[in-house]
Amino acid sequence: MSESNPSDDIRWSSRWLFVLAAAGSAVGLGNIWKFPYVAGENGGGAFVLIYLVCVGLVGAPIMMAEIALGREGRSSPITTMTKLAASAGRNSQWSIIGWMGVIAGVMILSFYAVIAGWALKYIGVLASDEFKNAGAEVVESTFNGLLASPVEMILWQTVFMVGTIWIVARGVSKGLEKAIRWFMPLLFVMLIVLLGYSLRSGGFEQGWQFMFDFKWEDVGPGTWIMALGQAFFTLSLGMGTMMVYGSYVPSEAKIGSTVATIVALDTVVAISAGLVIFPLVFVNNLDVAQGPGLMFVTMPLAFSQLPFGSIFGSVFFLLVSFAAITSAISLTEPAISYLVENYNSKRWRVAVGLGFLCWLLGLGTVFSFNIWADLKPVFGLNFFDLVDQISSNILLPLGGLLIAIFIAWRLPRKTVLGQIEIESERIWTLWKVVTGIVAPASVLVVFLNTFVPFF
Ligand code: TRP
Repeated sequence: MSESNPSDDIRWSSRWLFVLAAAGSAVGLGNIWKFPYVAGENGGGAFVLIYLVCVGLVGAPIMMAEIALGREGRSSPITTMTKLAASAGRNSQWSIIGWMGVIAGVMILSFYAVIAGWALKYIGVLASDEFKNAGAEVVESTFNGLLASPVEMILWQTVFMVGTIWIVARGVSKGLEKAIRWFMPLLFVMLIVLLGYSLRSGGFEQGWQFMFDFKWEDVGPGTWIMALGQAFFTLSLGMGTMMVYGSYVPSEAKIGSTVATIVALDTVVAISAGLVIFPLVFVNNLDVAQGPGLMFVTMPLAFSQLPFGSIFGSVFFLLVSFAAITSAISLTEPAISYLVENYNSKRWRVAVGLGFLCWLLGLGTVFSFNIWADLKPVFGLNFFDLVDQISSNILLPLGGLLIAIFIAWRLPRKTVLGQIEIESERIWTLWKVVTGIVAPASVLVVFLNTFVPFF
C-alpha cells in the first residue's frame, strides 16, 4: 500500500467510537422521518415485515462487505475499488461502484437537507409554545404553512447545508466524535420517554397492530422495492459511506459483531419511532398515509399535551437535527475523500463545491411541495419523490448488489479471511451463500419484479 495514503493515519480512537460514528450515519431522518411515513403509505405490517427481512438478509451482509472492503482498501470508495480490483486481477470497471455512490450521495443529500431544515425550524416552533394544548388542525396548518413557503424552506435548507459543510470542511474526526458520544444516547432516552407517552395515549394497540399485523393482501406491487430501498437508506448502504468509515476502522476490530450492533441500534430506533408515531396518528384521527409530513404533525401533537412539552419538543427536534447532521456528513464523505485524495484540493474548497451542488438540486425538492406540486414528469412522481426513488430504490440496491458480488466472487478468499473473522469451513460456506447468493439474488428479484412490468 502506498505511503502517501491519507487515511493511514486517521483511525477511530476505538472500536466503540466507530460503532457510534457508523450508527450516527445510519440513524437519521431515515429512521425517524422516512421509515414511519413510508410504512404508513405502504400498508404498515406488510411493509415492516419485508423491511425487516431486507435488513437482515440483504442489509447486514452488505454492511459487512462494505466495511471489509473499506478496511482492506483504506482509501476513498472509488480508489478502494480500483485498487482491490487491480490487485485481484479483475476489471478496473469495478470502480463504477464508487462513482455511482458519489451520484447517489449528491441526490440523497439534496433532499435530506430540505427535510432536515424542517426539523431545524421546528426547534423554534416548539419552543415558542405555539402548540400548547393545540389540536390537530392547528398543528397541521402550521406545517402546511411551512410547505407553502419556498422562501422559508430555502432559508432552513441553507442553514442546514452550511452547518454540514462547515463540519465536513473541518475534517471528520475533530469534534464530531465528541458530539456523537452525547447526542446519540440522548436521542435514545428521548425516544423512550415518548414511547412511554404513546403507551398511555390510548392508541397503542391500534398503532402496534398497524405495524405488526402482516397480511399478504396488503403487499402491493411497490411494497418490495420500497422496503428494500428503505433498508439500504436507513443503514447507509450501497454508496460507499460504510466503505469510507470502514477505512478508518482499526485492524483488530471484529466486523461481524460490530455490524450486528449497528444494525440492531438502527432498527430499534426506527421501530421505536413507528411505535411512537402510529398510536398518535390513530388517537388523533390523522391519515397514516399522509406522506412526508407525518412526523411533523404527530410529534408536535404529543408534545402539545405533555407537561413541559415545549421544552421536550424543541429538544426532540434538536436531537433529530443532530441525527440528521451526522448522517449528512457521511453522505458527503465518499465524494470528498476521493476529491481530496486525487486532486490534492483543499478540503474546504471541495466541500463548498459539493455543498453548493446539493443545495441547488435541493431547490427542486423545495418546489415539489409548493410551486411544482403538480409537476409529475415521470411515473406520476414529483421531483422529490423521483430523486428519492432513483437514489434510494435503484442506485443504492444496485451498488449493494455489485459490492456483494465483488467481495464474494471476485476477491481472493485469503483477502476476505483477512478482514472478516470466519473460523470454520461451515461459516465460510454460510457467508458465501448469504453474501454471494442470497443478498444479490434478493435485490435482483425485487428489481425484476418491479421494473419488468414497465417493459
Ligand atoms: N442512513 C441515514 C438515515 O437513515 C441516511 C444516510 C447517511 C445514507 N449516509 C447514507 C443513506 C448513505 C444512504 C447511503 O437517515
